[in-house]
Amino acid sequence: MRTAMARVFSGVQPTGEGPHIGNYIGAFRHWVDLQKTHEECFYCVVDLHAMTLPWDPKALKEGVRRTAATLIATGIDPERSVLFVQSDVAEHTQLTWVLTCLARMGELERMTQFKEKGRGNERDSVPAGLLAYPLLMAADVLVYRATHVPVGEDQRQHLELMRDLAIRFNSRFGDTFPVPDAVIGRQGARIMSLDDPTQKMSKSSGRPASTLGMLDPPNVVRKKIARAVTDSGREVRYGQDSPAVSNLLDIFSGVTGRSVAELMADLEGQGYAPLKAALAEAVLAVLTPFQARYTELMGDPAQLDELLDRGAKRAQSFAADTFREVRERIGLRVPPR
Ligand code: TYM
Repeated sequence: MRTAMARVFSGVQPTGEGPHIGNYIGAFRHWVDLQKTHEECFYCVVDLHAMTLPWDPKALKEGVRRTAATLIATGIDPERSVLFVQSDVAEHTQLTWVLTCLARMGELERMTQFKEKGRGNERDSVPAGLLAYPLLMAADVLVYRATHVPVGEDQRQHLELMRDLAIRFNSRFGDTFPVPDAVIGRQGARIMSLDDPTQKMSKSSGRPASTLGMLDPPNVVRKKIARAVTDSGREVRYGQDSPAVSNLLDIFSGVTGRSVAELMADLEGQGYAPLKAALAEAVLAVLTPFQARYTELMGDPAQLDELLDRGAKRAQSFAADTFREVRERIGLRVPPR
C-alpha cells in the first residue's frame, strides 16, 4: 500500500439554502477538528453530486460559492486543508467510470438513499445518476487514497460500498487503494427534523420549519426552536421514549461540545421552555460569529474563487498521480502529461 499516512477526505453538496445545523454537528465540526490531528485533509464541494436530481445552473454556481464560504467560515483553513470543487478535478469522473464497471446493479439498487430519493418517481424516469451516486462518492475518496472519511450516519451504507469496491479493485488489479474507514461521531451523527423527530433533518425536506439553517437569522432560529415539537411528558429526558427532546439535547451537545449528562444536570427540574431558550442561545453563540465571517467572505467573490482555484491545483496533482497508476493497473494506455 502506498499511503501509510492517514489522509482525510469528505464532501458536502452545494445547495441553495446552504447547510443546516445537522451538517455542522454531524460533519463540519469534525472536519475542523481533524485538521488539528491530520496533516492531509481534503474537503470537497461536490457539485456533480448535486446534479443527480434536477438542478438550476445559476443556483448550482451560486451554491458552490456559498458552500465554500460556509466551510471556511466554520473553520476549514484553506491553507492547511485542500478545499476544492469536485468538478475541477476530472479524475473523479474518470475513476467513477472504472468503478461503474466493477460495481453490480444489485448492490447499487440496495442503497437506501437511492430507494428513498427515487421514491415517488416512476422507476423508468429516475435519473441514472442517482443510481451511480455512490460510485462517484467512492471515486472522490479513492482518487486521493484517503484513509478516513468523516460523515454523518446517513452515509454509512455508502461508505460500506466504497470499502467493498476498494477491496474488489485491489484483489483484481493489485493493492492500489487503502480501504477507507468511516469516521462517525458517537453523538449527533443523525440530527432529526425539528418538526418530526422520526425524520432526519434534511435540505431536501421542503419544510423550512424542519431544519435549522446555518444562515437563518437570530429571530428565525429562536422561533424555529421555540416551535420545535416536544414529547408528551414535561421533564427533560433523554432516550427512546422522548425522541424530540433527545434530538434537542443532541443539538445542544453538538453546538456546545458539552455532554448530554452535563446539560441535563443543568436543566434538572426545569421544563421544555427553559431548555429551548438555553438551546437557542447556544446555537446562536455558534451561528452569530459564523454568519459574520460568512458575509465577509461572500463580499469578496474574487478572493473566494482564487482560493478554490488554488485548492483545485493542489487536488489535481494528487488525483492525477493515482489515476495514472490506475490506468497502468487496469490496462489503459498512459498518455503523456
Ligand atoms: P450531504 O451534503 O448531504 O451532507 C454533508 C454531511 O453532513 C452530514 N449530514 C448529517 N449529519 C447529521 N445529521 C443530519 N441530519 C445530517 N444531514 C447530513 C452527512 O452525513 C455528510 O457527512 N454524499 C454526501 C457528500 C459526499 C461525500 C463524498 C461524503 C460526496 N462525496 C465522499 C464523504 C465522502 C452528501 O450528500 O452529503
